[in-house]
Amino acid sequence: MKIEISQGDITTTHVDGVIVGLCEDSGQLGPATSAVAAVDALLGGAIRTLLDSKGAKGKAGEVTVLHTLGRLPCRLVAVCGLGPQSRVTTDGVRDAVAEGSRALRKLGATSMAATLIGAGAAGLDDRAVARAIAEGATLGLYSFAKYKLSEVGDMERLVIVVRNSGDASGLQEAVATAVVLSEATNLARDMVNEPANYMTPSRMAEMALDLGSTYGFEVTVLGKEEMATLGMGALLGVASGSAEPPKFIRMDYTAAGGDAARIALVGKAITFDSGGISIKPSEGLAEMKDDMAGGAAVIATMSAVARAGAPANVTGLVPATENLLGSRAYRPGDVLRAMNGKTIEVISTDAEGRLALADAMSYAVKEGLAPLVDVATLTGACQVALGKTYSGVFSNNQELADRFLGAAARAGERMWQLPLADEYRELNKSLIADIKNVGNRHGGAITAALFISEFTGGVPWLHVDIAGTSNSAKDNGVIVKGATGVAVRTLYELVRSS
Ligand code: BES
Ligand code: ZN
Ligand code: ZN
Repeated sequence: MKIEISQGDITTTHVDGVIVGLCEDSGQLGPATSAVAAVDALLGGAIRTLLDSKGAKGKAGEVTVLHTLGRLPCRLVAVCGLGPQSRVTTDGVRDAVAEGSRALRKLGATSMAATLIGAGAAGLDDRAVARAIAEGATLGLYSFAKYKLSEVGDMERLVIVVRNSGDASGLQEAVATAVVLSEATNLARDMVNEPANYMTPSRMAEMALDLGSTYGFEVTVLGKEEMATLGMGALLGVASGSAEPPKFIRMDYTAAGGDAARIALVGKAITFDSGGISIKPSEGLAEMKDDMAGGAAVIATMSAVARAGAPANVTGLVPATENLLGSRAYRPGDVLRAMNGKTIEVISTDAEGRLALADAMSYAVKEGLAPLVDVATLTGACQVALGKTYSGVFSNNQELADRFLGAAARAGERMWQLPLADEYRELNKSLIADIKNVGNRHGGAITAALFISEFTGGVPWLHVDIAGTSNSAKDNGVIVKGATGVAVRTLYELVRSS
């Protein structure tokens, strides 16, 4: 989709569809100068009538599509609810534009326009709104059609109509950032939506190599032998039940001064999690192709950071393997030795993500990287605790946690901190090894985080559990059914702020 910023009047813009925002509480269409009032006037008061008859209320998430029947150059007008005017945010605009774009596409529109919704009476910043509109459209119109014979029509053009061209370059820059971020999010979505028979550890490594040469970061891929030499016994334990070779993907992006800290972004990449010998029930098992969403988020973030030329040093680490139950598979009761020398008693082969991360974190510590941030579809318990909208955040360093939560808020992603409760540390104690890979029935997201913390060597570290948020059962604003690409935009903001 091509995104243009154009000075002019939305009522005379030649596109298939126009998106206008409608606030909930005013009972009016806002100032006569607003886009919705101007469009309403040309439609003979159709939007006003809708409001009066309660056919539209302006609630967030609501979309009503009107057919203009020749009264405007555009064929369709999507009236998108923004909620109460005093509470309109850029997050709300992003979601409203996503909903409106999908509604227009459904009716065959291939071009659309919007004004800087929310920048008028609601008082939002012009650049922030331009970015939200571009993100809303790019994220909201995402679809994964690779394996379908019939494809949905594509939106080819989005025009952001502004009244004056005073800040043209600022707005262009905001749109450029939006494109980098939403395309990276959509790349992560593509990787996660791919089936596990395509998105193998080798394919993930190939994609990282390709992206590295396109956008400018170094990629090193370690195979089984190199992992063995490094002593990555935990990751190799997980990989032992699959014929698909595991890969440890390292990506280095360097654009800050020599002495500057080098942040590590670590992503769990189990390309299919059957549970191993502790096999999962068959219901919902197909969803376990998503278990590499953390790794996909890290690879996609590296591409965004490099594409934007962010002034930072970043290393991405992705331990990638399947978790199957072949004849060489590791067993419950086995003891594995991680790269930092700690021994782990395997209670469940389904708690494999923390094993893969144990070696990745040990590797990051040995390389002197700091801070460490890992993203993982780690526990069903986190999904039970926070549901499917909020990702769980854990950290051994409150300053890092605050920075991360600030980045999430700027990115418009919902994240919630949970305690790294020292009181529960003893639940991971093993009779025969240094640690075991499962706590007990309660606080499963916390004991999983505590397990990872044992491999961080005291370095500032933050863990994001995206088990609940990596995929969605329905379209909702910028979230579309299937993979969400969660964490890419937050990680990017974090890197930019460091
Ligand atoms: N990949 C799963 C976690 C998961 C669950 C992701 C649901 C997405 C949706 C992880 O490897 C796992 O199986 N965790 C177990 C841990 C348990 C055995 C301690 C879980 O959460 O049940
Ligand atoms: Zn598992
Ligand atoms: Zn898993």
